[in-house]
Amino acid sequence: MSKPLKIGLAGLGTVGTGVLDLLRENGALLEKRCGRAIEVTAVSARSRKARRGGHDMSAYAWFDDPVEMARSGDIDVLVELIGGEDGPAKAAVEAALAAGRHVVTANKALLAHHGVELARMAEKSGAALNFEAAVAGAIPIVKTMRESLAGNRAARVFGILNGTCNYILTKMEDEERDFADVLKEAQELGYAEADPSFDVGGFDAAHKLAILTSLAFGVEINFADVYVEGIENVTLNDIRYARGLGYRIKLLGVAVDTGDGVEQRVHPTLVPLGSPIAEVNGVFNAVAVRGDFAGDIMLSGRGAGAHPTASSVVGDIADIARGVIVPPLGVPADRLAPSRRARMRAHEGGYYVAMELADKPGEVAAVARIFAGAGISIESIVQKGRAISRVVPLREGEMVRETAPFILITHDTLESAMRGALERIERDGHCAGRPRMIRIERF
Ligand code: HSE
Repeated sequence: MSKPLKIGLAGLGTVGTGVLDLLRENGALLEKRCGRAIEVTAVSARSRKARRGGHDMSAYAWFDDPVEMARSGDIDVLVELIGGEDGPAKAAVEAALAAGRHVVTANKALLAHHGVELARMAEKSGAALNFEAAVAGAIPIVKTMRESLAGNRAARVFGILNGTCNYILTKMEDEERDFADVLKEAQELGYAEADPSFDVGGFDAAHKLAILTSLAFGVEINFADVYVEGIENVTLNDIRYARGLGYRIKLLGVAVDTGDGVEQRVHPTLVPLGSPIAEVNGVFNAVAVRGDFAGDIMLSGRGAGAHPTASSVVGDIADIARGVIVPPLGVPADRLAPSRRARMRAHEGGYYVAMELADKPGEVAAVARIFAGAGISIESIVQKGRAISRVVPLREGEMVRETAPFILITHDTLESAMRGALERIERDGHCAGRPRMIRIERF
């Protein structure tokens, strides 16, 4: 039997403790499968608590500084679970790679911002840089795209990439609850990031999408190219109206090679009820890839939480224990093409539009005329009766009116036309506040 693989664990939060749980419960099984033992020999964290989740920290060499641990001769692999795009996480990963040590990380922000340079460093020293846990928790999508689908050209990749958002949207729909109330619950369950605005603002999903885009299309990771909208403005009424129209709202990340650059976008999306992606609920994530030879593949599983994420971390460690080392981004870093962004205004798709329309004769016709003038074809319209009679300011000189919810679904149209029409509707005072739109994907 070969020598044990020695692990230095940096970060002992939810996922770090999950990794220790897994190694304790399944260590013997792993040893059999890898032909060698996997042993945590060193740990580093901000606070030096004696026990975490029932694990006795005195069993490991303690480092206050993760960089020092990464340089230490007594580890073979740095497992970075600190998080954050810069700071100690980046410094520790760089120190490990510079010393020729393997790295396993769950840090999507780090990869989204510095993935290409880190991949280059790893390739130079012959070390592994594995990051399955950075994208969609337990789902083995990085390995699938990097290795199993190596013979395919990808046309698109999309998915539900944030467990917290999916949990919130599902609970809002199932239990008719408020956004803020459900967010608190997701935080308590350990799904949300330290700063939950990363989750609900769409940035966590955007980090993951930027990584998937590189793996799918062989381009450099470029986080700045991702168009991002979060779920903060999705209302319970949107969820209800969408359902009535045959759709469910999901936060999707979508990357499509348009032939004129890659469209990378994260935003709330209406997906048809009954489609596979619409049925991925709660903390579950899903990633779907279309390969030219493989056809459509969708993987789903738990996208967040201690044990699902630990499963991916340990899968990456097992590869290293077996000596499986591949270019981190599937293509050697120097052979990745530069990222070319497709303009969001050139996006074409269907839209859900909701507004508080002035409740008087002629307003529906006026709005319909604006859409027709912009070349936008309407698929369905719903006007709800006023739940409560109220007065709201509209255009100048005509200060108060009663309004009623007005919802419509369009056929495929250009984003630039949609934005123009909505600006015109608002400017001409047909509705109170701003009309809102949510994009539709009809897979
Ligand atoms: N906060 C993330 C999520 C955890 O909710 O999906 C995994 O990245």
